[in-house]
Amino acid sequence: MKIVTYRDLASKDGFLPLMDNAFRWPFNPRVFESFVKGDPRSRDGPVGFCAVENDLPIGFVGVLHLFTQTLEGTVERVGGIYGVATLPSHARKGVSTALMNKAHQYFTEKGFRFSFLTTSRTLIAHAFYEKLGYLDVVQYPSAYKVVAHKKGELSTNKEIAKFDFDKILKVYNEFSRDKTGFVIRDKEYLKMLKKGERITAKQCIISEKGYAIFRKDREGVWIRELIALTADDMEKLVSQIEQQARDVIYDRMVLNNALLKIYESRGYMISRESHSVLMAKPLTANASIKQAYGGKFFMTSLDWF
Ligand SMILES: CC(C)(COP(=O)(O)OP(=O)(O)OC[C@H]1O[C@@H](n2cnc3c(N)ncnc32)[C@H](O)[C@@H]1OP(=O)(O)O)[C@@H](O)C(=O)NCCC(=O)NCCS
Repeated sequence: MKIVTYRDLASKDGFLPLMDNAFRWPFNPRVFESFVKGDPRSRDGPVGFCAVENDLPIGFVGVLHLFTQTLEGTVERVGGIYGVATLPSHARKGVSTALMNKAHQYFTEKGFRFSFLTTSRTLIAHAFYEKLGYLDVVQYPSAYKVVAHKKGELSTNKEIAKFDFDKILKVYNEFSRDKTGFVIRDKEYLKMLKKGERITAKQCIISEKGYAIFRKDREGVWIRELIALTADDMEKLVSQIEQQARDVIYDRMVLNNALLKIYESRGYMISRESHSVLMAKPLTANASIKQAYGGKFFMTSLDWF
């Protein structure tokens, strides 16, 4: 088995069975690479490390360059791991272990003090990550409501604003000024999110003091990011989105207490714990997540990787 970077891998075709077996992700190299080009988290790096046998990828660990804000208000670059997968025929032979070690070595060479990843506590991988030194950093409180609106009671998004990057960034930066976590954003990051998450103007509400990004499909309305500078503005946004939800409305990642309280007061069912979890591993002996970020770490569903 050889380990090469994604960029150095001659043919990417073998990613189709690798990723589809692992994640039900029918990997399309053209689509993936077009996304990587516009993704500030992976554009300047190796994309990931591949274990190769007979020119075919048998395992992969993706690497991202991420920005975090620390307790001291400084910007700290950290590593991000995604897309960890081994072909079923090669499982349990140390492939992922070797690739994770390679990724950690890469991050350490870049001077990163921490490696982050998102996973589910119900997966085998969670215990594997713990074995590699990862710790749970945050679980995600979530909020759910069955609204059962009749068709006549529904409103469509009348305030369709274009996805105004400047307005969104202004509110977001003010909101997150004293938060720790994945809160460092610029226009490029937003553009990447818009493309990757297929955010349309119809699925945004933007006002001077807040905005919400949601996805409406036949299952219901999923609030993906709701940011506002006052509790009143938050409540107004929740109410506006509710008016568009026919049966079901939910927010899977509510790391803001004011918003959680609003959901609670409006009769949402709240789950304070989650299977999904953010994990992190200190890469140097004296690095501590608690010291760097305090007891909190902010992100929204849009930052999930
Ligand atoms: C999780 C996964 C990446 C592991 O890859 P792998 O190459 O088989 O991993 P390794 O052989 O390096 O195993 C490392 C350790 O993980 C644990 N592990 C891996 N597979 C396991 C299994 N089937 N049952 C229990 N533990 C397992 C063991 O602790 C193992 O160490 P050991 O063999 O010394 O006991 C692979 O099972 C996979 O592709 N799963 C589907 C995709 C996925 O869930 N990815 C993670 C998303 S966050």
